[in-house]
Amino acid sequence: MAKAKVKFADVSATVTVPVGTRIIEISEKVGSYIAYNCREGDCGSCVFAVLDGAENLSQQSTLEKATLLAHFKEVVSGWRNCTDLDSLQAMIRRENFAGRRCRLACQTQIYGDVTVSPL
Ligand code: FES
Repeated sequence: MAKAKVKFADVSATVTVPVGTRIIEISEKVGSYIAYNCREGDCGSCVFAVLDGAENLSQQSTLEKATLLAHFKEVVSGWRNCTDLDSLQAMIRRENFAGRRCRLACQTQIYGDVTVSPL
């Protein structure tokens, strides 16, 4: 069976997994701070950043795209409702999507070497 290496940047852990493994299947085992809830692609809580190797991940499904869109709309809505500059800047730093490719850990399968991180 083909294998791939996954590096979780937040905990400096690299593991070798069978091709086809989902990110969420191993993120908890290595202690990564990638959160999750439904495990079905509906809640958007498992959003993570792909730091390297995005081409080695499964294609986004229609469900994943819709859930990510809803997640980002909610984040932007939260920014719009913020009335305190310090809080707004902290939110922007925390959720800075610039240069990041975001995916859902419960939906994303690994097909080759990749580096990931929580948002
Ligand atoms: S855990 Fe809910 S969308 Fe992934």
